[in-house]
Amino acid sequence: MKTETGVAAKIIYLKDYQAPHYTLEHTELHFELLGDYTEVSAELRFKRALTAPKEAVLTLLGADLELLSVAWSGQLLSANDWQWQDEKWQFAGAGEGGVLSTKVRIYPDQNLALEGLYRSHGLYCTQCEAEGFRKITLYPDRPDVLSTFRTTIVADKASCPVLLSNGNCVATGDSENGRHWATWEDPHPKPSYLFALVAGDLAVLRDSFTTVSGREVALEIYTAEVDQDKCDHAMRSLQAAMRWDEERYGCEYDLDRYMIVAVSHFNMGAMENKGLNVFNTSCVLAHPATTTDAGFQRVEAVVAHEYFHNWSGNRVTCRDWFQLCLKEGFTVFRDQQFSADQLSAVVQRLEDVAFLQTHQFAEDAGPLAHAVRPESFVEINNFYTLTIYEKGAEIARMLHTFLGADGFRRGSDHYFKTYDGQAAIVEDFLNSMAVANGLDAGAFVSQWLRWYRQPGTPVVSVNSVWQKDIQRLTLTLTQTQSSKSSSTPESLPIPVRLGFIGKEGELSTSLNGVTANEHLLVLEQAEQSWQFDDVSQVPVLSLFRDFSAPVRVKAEFGDADLAQLIRLDSNSFNRWSASYALATREILALAEQYRSGDLRAHQPQESALAAAIAEVWSELAASDPALAAKMLQLPSLAYLSDQVACYDPEALQRARESVLLQVIAPLQSALGTVLAKQEMLKPYVYSAQAIAARSVEAVALDGLARLQSGAAAAIAQHWLKEAPHMSAEQAALTTLVHHQLPGADDALQAFYARWKHEPLVLDQWFATQASAPQAETRERVEALLAHSDFDATVPNRVRAVIGQFANNNPVAFHDAEGRGYGLIAKQLLAIDARNPQLASRLAGAFGIWQKLDESRQAHILRELDGLLSGDLSSDTRETLS
Ligand code: PHE
Ligand code: ZN
Repeated sequence: MKTETGVAAKIIYLKDYQAPHYTLEHTELHFELLGDYTEVSAELRFKRALTAPKEAVLTLLGADLELLSVAWSGQLLSANDWQWQDEKWQFAGAGEGGVLSTKVRIYPDQNLALEGLYRSHGLYCTQCEAEGFRKITLYPDRPDVLSTFRTTIVADKASCPVLLSNGNCVATGDSENGRHWATWEDPHPKPSYLFALVAGDLAVLRDSFTTVSGREVALEIYTAEVDQDKCDHAMRSLQAAMRWDEERYGCEYDLDRYMIVAVSHFNMGAMENKGLNVFNTSCVLAHPATTTDAGFQRVEAVVAHEYFHNWSGNRVTCRDWFQLCLKEGFTVFRDQQFSADQLSAVVQRLEDVAFLQTHQFAEDAGPLAHAVRPESFVEINNFYTLTIYEKGAEIARMLHTFLGADGFRRGSDHYFKTYDGQAAIVEDFLNSMAVANGLDAGAFVSQWLRWYRQPGTPVVSVNSVWQKDIQRLTLTLTQTQSSKSSSTPESLPIPVRLGFIGKEGELSTSLNGVTANEHLLVLEQAEQSWQFDDVSQVPVLSLFRDFSAPVRVKAEFGDADLAQLIRLDSNSFNRWSASYALATREILALAEQYRSGDLRAHQPQESALAAAIAEVWSELAASDPALAAKMLQLPSLAYLSDQVACYDPEALQRARESVLLQVIAPLQSALGTVLAKQEMLKPYVYSAQAIAARSVEAVALDGLARLQSGAAAAIAQHWLKEAPHMSAEQAALTTLVHHQLPGADDALQAFYARWKHEPLVLDQWFATQASAPQAETRERVEALLAHSDFDATVPNRVRAVIGQFANNNPVAFHDAEGRGYGLIAKQLLAIDARNPQLASRLAGAFGIWQKLDESRQAHILRELDGLLSGDLSSDTRETLS
């Protein structure tokens, strides 16, 4: 691999980890924010580590810095006194320790990568994870060096009335020339990636929270003045998260203040800097008029996620970036649990699982596959992946299933207590889980560690034999690891929650003398068998309930078996997953017929899925509307593409539409009944019930658009006219545009005129068009890229247009002529020059290439060769290579 300068890119290995030779006792920072540039002075008090050799060298990191001066314990140094290569600055004269004073100049206005200190639209803000702090000052920028911080910010008072950093504000004052300053002190030792600074003209919403031990915490949400009316939901979510973490994990907040700042230019969702979270506006602002249900839920989840990091990530941090899953996987699991408690647990779970199966499974099966704890990396920014986050969360969930809620809590208590203030590794987490539950730690850690070390998605094969005469069922499970796995894959501990579904419903059975409707097995060997007694009839197995392990299941289910689960399983998640499996099967079979030119395929065959759904749907729409809505959302092309060896987007799309039509055709009157309720036109309430009612109506409208487009268009227009909130407006607009119904263009124009002043709504407007599933969308996207409101420096806008097209519009992206790829490649090159992190993420859209037909592969490879032969960042180069 090559970097932009042509030298071989450096691969960093976990096995090479070395503890720092110098620890840092305290960090003192002084920022002079001056219009064109910024000067940063730092005083760092170092001490040689007890374990370090006498001749230890002090190694700091610095990138894109103009070094103005360096002094060691008061003595000025010159360039001869140190070595500075690539990003490494080394000083051999540090002895037992001392104070390093540095002064550097940086240029926040020119920083379009949005890493380090940057200024956009007048607002200064920082993003330091993972390695951004080295762009602010020379520093031991690694997560295992923790120190207390004292930060002074000096800036122009008129343009930057608000000056924020981590911790508590201890002093403020005015200085000359209309400038002012503020000093912040963070008493909790932290690594540099959790540092934050914000300066600008912001308004604030204040509230408070009283912790379980009675301490009053000031809560503040900073935004542009015009967005202050969109902060209530984030504030309520924050308070709910704070209470929840006390109750569920015994985690109490530890500073007097908790601040959230909304910024419009941000590469990711949000960042958990200690006491001063920085958020993408899309993850904090919410108002019924401008935000959909999905948007509200995202805000709630991300606010909670960042808050939960205060313990899982900040109080206990990561020793090195190989341990990223330690904070991210665990925290995602925590935010998933929280969201499940706020709204509908089943809907939360099936959305999380569909997301994992669609995107993480594909990542694990493609060229970018890696372990949850990888052994090596080139560019750490490329490792903020679905595998680390989502699969990491599934591992935490399996531990929770395996140990039980109380056992898991004992383990997390032990972990937070033992490693508080430290930088930990995955083994520490597993060790706590074992020790707190009286298990053999050595065996437990080595067994569970396999989940973190082996890439690829395990496959579990199922075989069951029922003996009528003795009413016994013998279940045999076999696990195999994908070929992506390490050379000698080892068996994983796989929790299997299962039940048995008979002709009339759930059966109770006995395992080792325990009689129950549901059993928990742990598959630990390559192959294992279990005997269930009192099995009175041949059952259908309801396996991996609530998706108890992130595996692919190979089982010989007949259509009738899956239909039986859809009708009768007591586990709602598995009812849904059976419908998903049956839909997948029917769509793939039909697509195969299209591909082989079998003309009988034009005569719709009996659909077992349609029959099963027809039987339950009306009742379900009344009793569990959220689940009813989900049952009609057939697997996406992205999901289906992961299920096939050869991906033919056209055939799959056609087959999917055909099956969908079969499913909804018998439901026409049921859809009418749902739509007649007009829940969509009631005032906005954020509750599980209200969201479920709206979601089933939105799905019903989408279904109706396929059966009676005129009637659907009329309803959509009615919603647009009467819409009391964005959920109705967006559902109506999407239906009109995606089904190309009459009036779609006028509706787009009217929507634009109404919302052009709201960036987040405008993002939706762009995204709705860029994801319209027709070939013509490519031309529309070309036009959108030339639109006066398209701004390639705003990541949200780039994702709304380019990201939607590349990742959420397979029909147009996979244009047979390769024009979709060409469009994306051209955009990638332009974006990469400014913002490598953003470009690299978009480049992931090409990850599917190996599954495409030869002609599409050739188109993609041509584009990739073109890109790789030019100037590219190391981020994007690594992804594309
Ligand atoms: N740590 C952030 C989170 O998941 C994500 C992030 C990573 C943000 C890197 C910015 C840069 O909560
Ligand atoms: Zn996180």
